Amino acid sequence: MQRPRFLIKLMLRVKTDTTIHEVKVGQVADLRKLFRQAVVEDFSYFPKTYQWRVLADNNLARLAIGVIKPNRVLLGAWRDDRLIGYAIAGTNRNGCGKLYWLYVAPDSRGQGVGGQLLDRLIAIMKQRGMQRLSLVTHNFDPYYAKRGFKLDKSQQLYGVPMRVMSYQWPKKK
Ligand SMILES: CC(C)(COP(=O)(O)OP(=O)(O)OC[C@H]1O[C@@H](n2cnc3c(N)ncnc32)[C@H](O)[C@@H]1OP(=O)(O)O)[C@@H](O)C(=O)NCCC(=O)NCCS
Repeated sequence: MQRPRFLIKLMLRVKTDTTIHEVKVGQVADLRKLFRQAVVEDFSYFPKTYQWRVLADNNLARLAIGVIKPNRVLLGAWRDDRLIGYAIAGTNRNGCGKLYWLYVAPDSRGQGVGGQLLDRLIAIMKQRGMQRLSLVTHNFDPYYAKRGFKLDKSQQLYGVPMRVMSYQWPKKK
């Protein structure tokens, strides 16, 4: 008997024994490996010069500093001791958090891992007193819109059309 699609989707989501927590210094090498894979495989719409810059800006040392810096949030998603996704974000003094990178390994997508990373990040940003969380995306605007982000503006980055979006916590009545 064939299982309905929604049931298969639900089973996949329940299967996700995923742990989300802040990356520790000893886990930075795994983060760098996955970061590299993301840039090469999933951000290939950016010109090579920009990809190289992104890789240099997020080398092992810089990521390790990011783990220690109080204005950075580096979240990882682990399953069976394997890093399968991450969110890299920052806070600043004007109350605006920034999500720089959100990534889930191709074989772990569609199982709610990205959503869990985003939910955790939003909770941390709120805890840290941020009034908004903004991001820039090329083609995942419907993904973020579904999760409460609103389009602020469109712009070009290295000739690539990008959308700037932000999330604001609902005001208490
Ligand atoms: C974006 C990303 C992190 C999402 O991670 P994920 O674990 O697959 O996300 P979730 O399982 O929480 O959510 C999957 C949902 O996104 C939807 N989705 C997948 N690709 C999408 C797209 N391009 N646009 C809109 N929605 C998309 C799926 O249909 C699914 O919908 P559902 O919640 O109704 O079932 C992952 O796809 C990824 O790493 N992509 C490549 C890197 C990238 O482009 N990141 C975005 C940078 S701004």
